[in-house]
Amino acid sequence: MNIFILTGAGLSAESNLGTFRDKGDGLWTRFDPMKLATPGAFARNPGEVHAFYNMRRQNLLAAEPNEAHRALARLEAGLVGRGNFFLVTQNIDDLHERAGSQRVTHMHGELLKARCTACTSAMPWREDLSVNLTCPHCGRTGTLRPDVVWFGEVPLQMDAIDDALAQSDLFVSIGTSGSVYPAAGFVEQAKELGIRAYEINLEPSDNARLFDEAHYGPATQAVPAWVEKVLAASVRS
Ligand code: OAD
Repeated sequence: MNIFILTGAGLSAESNLGTFRDKGDGLWTRFDPMKLATPGAFARNPGEVHAFYNMRRQNLLAAEPNEAHRALARLEAGLVGRGNFFLVTQNIDDLHERAGSQRVTHMHGELLKARCTACTSAMPWREDLSVNLTCPHCGRTGTLRPDVVWFGEVPLQMDAIDDALAQSDLFVSIGTSGSVYPAAGFVEQAKELGIRAYEINLEPSDNARLFDEAHYGPATQAVPAWVEKVLAASVRS
């Protein structure tokens, strides 16, 4: 069995990182993404953009992976030699890695990395970013930005993602509202290729009708339960 998994903010919600679109406390209901998550916003007001990502980086450093992250790491380990496992996340946190996942594709970049807009070097970064900092690679000041994908930018590693999806037998979408493309289009791609699609989410996503099967509930319960079933079936087969 070749499994392709897409994760979103719902997977990290129970690690206290919140989501974007949940009513009430979603990040994009409290903050305007057009003022904080676009190249234009960064050009106009880098200090405000840095403050937003500094806040999110500090929250991430205080967060811990949850049972859903750990279950996906167990699934990856359990499928070694039994099938391909491809994990792509829209999340910019490192909770999959901290839970033990070995191979994670971060299509929207990583919050714990900085990138220089002048020399393009990317580097691990855990401190606050500001316009006063100097790039350790090229020595220019004011050029460092979070190494994340903003609205209007192209997500990362799309060729590898498309290839992995095409080779899978099962597409599983976990904790994502299905409202941001290209990730929101993976289920359609899967269906066109005849690949079974399974959704795990707190509530039906925007494209819930496209899935063959779904389980609605908190990720920390729904994901471990599903992983145990898949692992048990893979041992039997
Ligand atoms: P959203 O906030 O759009 O959706 C989160 C989904 O998780 C919703 O459908 C919730 O119902 C579900 N959810 C919430 N709590 C959950 C829980 N405990 N267990 C399971 N599911 C839960 O987040 P994403 O779909 O990840 O991009 O957002 C996609 C992209 O939009 C993000 O990567 C980000 C954002 O703008 C950029 O910043 C470029």
